[in-house]
Formats: sequence, structure tokens, C-alpha cells
Amino acid sequence: MKIINKENKNKFILKGFFEEDKLKVKNLLTTFGTITEDINKQISYICLGSNKKFDKNSLKKIANKIIKLNIREFQIIAKSFVTKELDLQNVVNVFIDTYEYLNGDDLYSAKTTKSEKSFPLFLVVEDAKVVAESKQTLIISQLVNKARKYQATPPNICNSEWLAQEFKQMFKDNKKVKIKILDKAQIEKEKMNLFLSVNKGSAFEPRLVVIEYNGNPKSKEKIALIGKGITFDSGGYNLKPSQHIKGMKFDMSGAAICAAAMKGIVDLNAKTNVCAVLPLTDNKISSNAQTPDSIWTSMSGKTVEVNNTDAEGRLILADAITYAIKYFDPTQIVDIATLTGAIIISLGTTYTGIWSTCEKSYNKFLAAANKQDELVWRMPFHEDFLKNIKSANFSDYKNTDLSGKGGSNSAAMFLKEFTENKKYIHLDIAGTAGDGDNPTGVMVKTLIQFALDFDK
Ligand code: BES
Ligand code: ZN
Ligand code: ZN
Repeated sequence: MKIINKENKNKFILKGFFEEDKLKVKNLLTTFGTITEDINKQISYICLGSNKKFDKNSLKKIANKIIKLNIREFQIIAKSFVTKELDLQNVVNVFIDTYEYLNGDDLYSAKTTKSEKSFPLFLVVEDAKVVAESKQTLIISQLVNKARKYQATPPNICNSEWLAQEFKQMFKDNKKVKIKILDKAQIEKEKMNLFLSVNKGSAFEPRLVVIEYNGNPKSKEKIALIGKGITFDSGGYNLKPSQHIKGMKFDMSGAAICAAAMKGIVDLNAKTNVCAVLPLTDNKISSNAQTPDSIWTSMSGKTVEVNNTDAEGRLILADAITYAIKYFDPTQIVDIATLTGAIIISLGTTYTGIWSTCEKSYNKFLAAANKQDELVWRMPFHEDFLKNIKSANFSDYKNTDLSGKGGSNSAAMFLKEFTENKKYIHLDIAGTAGDGDNPTGVMVKTLIQFALDFDK
């Protein structure tokens, strides 16, 4: 979509109109979202309903419809969608974001027939300041697509070694960041045995991608982003049944989302110190794969009995958290993971589950999510959810509470045990990372916003 500051008189125009304006132009269709065309005048009108009810969600629906329509080359008049509630900046941002999401031409595709050509769309915005401000929206929307591209890439391509190289490529020649990739030998040297235990069944080496950006060197504050990067989750010896194994290529979403968010934080020069620690492996079966009942000593020294090999996310994340604390001493840890099926029972595919040990951090995160129009719902950290996890006979912890009660909360409590009382936010995106087959890149926007506003 091209932004232009003036309409071209020879090209078709598309305007929104509100019920309240319908007398100005005669014979318009007045059902929300329908279009009337005046071919002679080369103008189309789309009905927006009452301007009192027209909010951001209605605008998103309308923008979706217009962009998917693909019937002719339109010049969309941005100011015709403005109401008391929605200013021109809102309108422009929604059109840019919706267009990028629907036309993410960078997403993976193995189709041998190309889809029909799409008609170009122009957005007419006369206000130069609004156009300048919208640059940030475009950068962020494109980074959502970056995460979605890696989510979409099939697991026969997207393995741990490949994905680590891709992340490195994203920051190639970028002087503002330090990036390091640990291979298996280096991960062994760090004694990240929980992470290594998950990798034992894999044909590929594990990788730990570590990215550091210091946007506010004077400040002691530092965010550590930890992203679950399971490139395929078969469940391991606790093998997933057919209906649950499909779609498990999305189990690396947390890592892809962190990498994309990190790129946004760097490109937008956030005045905050941020590091990302991304453990990558698949969770597969081989003669060497770990079995249930295995007991490991984590990087932190705490010991864990694996009573379910399918609760692998918390294993790799626990060691990644310890690594982040050892090397970066963060003041705020944020992890993001497709961690539990149970969160889908709690919050459906609508809300990302969020846990926070700190009220202030939670409020900051919620404000960032609201600014970026992403939905989060707070879940509880409570000692009760630790009981079964701590009931192991031969080790400090079991990795799974098998009671079937509040499984997302016990997973969160398990991870909290590794955070050494640092401020901690945990995000469970098992319900929101994918919309059926469609990857969403959920929380890329919010994480970027969170970092942009963090030291303010
Ligand atoms: N990757 C899954 C969680 C998941 C489930 C993501 C559905 C997306 C959709 C995770 O590793 C897992 O298998 N969790 C288990 C935990 C259980 C063994 C306590 C689950 O949710 O069944
Ligand atoms: Zn699993
Ligand atoms: Zn998993």
C-alpha cells in the first residue's frame, strides 16, 4: 500500500460514509461494510454505520474487507474514516497494519502456482506529520511478519541449526547489537542439562542464541527476553496423539517473536537495555531420547525429575533463565512460550495469559498491550500450584503437575523457581500464536512497545 498526499483525479476513489451523512449522497447502500459505486464519477462509498458506534474494531473489519476485496486500484481517502474517537493517525495505522498482515509476501510458501495479481492500493493522507509518525507502525507490522515467516516455515526446513543462522542473519552487520550462538559443546560447558535433555532425541544440535542491546548504558535496568524455541514438539516418549501433534511446528513461536521484537527494539532505538536468550531444539524420539523418570541437574544446580517428556518447554526455558541471570543480571525477566494446552482451556484463542510477580511491571505491560491492541489476561502465581511440582522423592522438582488442575499455573510456578526473585513476567501464547494454520506473531508489537516505554 502506497501512501500519497493527494488523490490522482484520474483514478478511482474509495470513501467511507457514515449513516449520518447519507443524505449528502443519494442512493447509497446503508448496510455496514457494503459498497456503492458511482462508475461515472469514479468513486466508491463504503458504509461505516453510525459514526457514534464506529470504533477501532469496526475500522479493522472495514480495512480487512477493503484490502481483501481486490477488485480495482483504489485510492482510499483516509480522512473519511475519522470520527471523534478515531483520529487520522489511528486510521492510517490500522490501514497500514492490516495491509501488512494480509499481504505478508515474505511468509513461507511452497505453492507452485502463483496467486492472482493484486491491484495496488493507495492511501491518501494529506497530513505530513501523520505520515511521518506512521513509519513506526510500518516497521513494527513488518516485524510481526518476520516472526510469522519463521512460524510458518515447515519443520523439515526450520530446525535449530537453521533457525539460529536465520536469527544471526537478521542482525548481520548491525553495530548496535552483540549476537552470540552457542553450539552443543558450549551448551554442555554451561551445564544446561535440562535444555540438553530435550535435545537428546534430535538429529540436530541444540543452539542458544544470545542477543544483547544496550540502548541506555547509564541505566542499571535491563530486560531479559526468553523465548521458547522448540522447532517441533512431538512430545518425546510421552508422544502426542495425532490430533495434538499437528501444528507443533509453531512451538518455536516464542523464540521467533523475541527475535523479531529485538529487531524492532534495536531499529527503533529504544532507550532501554535488553537482551534475548533463545534456546532452540526439537523434542523428538530416538534411541537416545530421554525417557520419563530421568533426573537432571539444571544449570542453576536445582535437580528435576522428568515425569512427562512433553512438558519440555519449561525445561529449556529454566536453563535459559539461569543463563540470562548469570551473564546479564537483568532487573526484569520476560519469557514467552507456547507452553501449555491448558491455557487454551482457560483463555481460548483470544487472550495471551500473563503472570507477573510485580504489579508495576504488570501495569506497564498491560499499557503496552493496550497501546498495541493485543489482548492479555492476568493469571495467578500461587504457592498451591507448586505443591505437586515439589513433591518429588528423588529430586528437588518434577517438571509436571499431573493432577490436571491449573496446568498453566503450575508451569508458570515451575519457571518462577528459576528466576532468583528477579521481577518476572511469564506469557503463555499456546492459544494465541496461531489462528488455525495461520501464524499470528502475537506479542511482537507489545514487547517492542514495552521496551520503548520501559525506562520512561
Ligand atoms: N507445546 C506444548 C503446548 C501446546 C499445546 C502448544 C497446544 C500449542 C497448542 C507443550 O510443550 C506441551 O506439550 N504441554 C503439555 C504439558 C503437560 C504434559 C503438562 C500439555 O499442555 O499437554
Ligand atoms: Zn510438549
Ligand atoms: Zn512444547
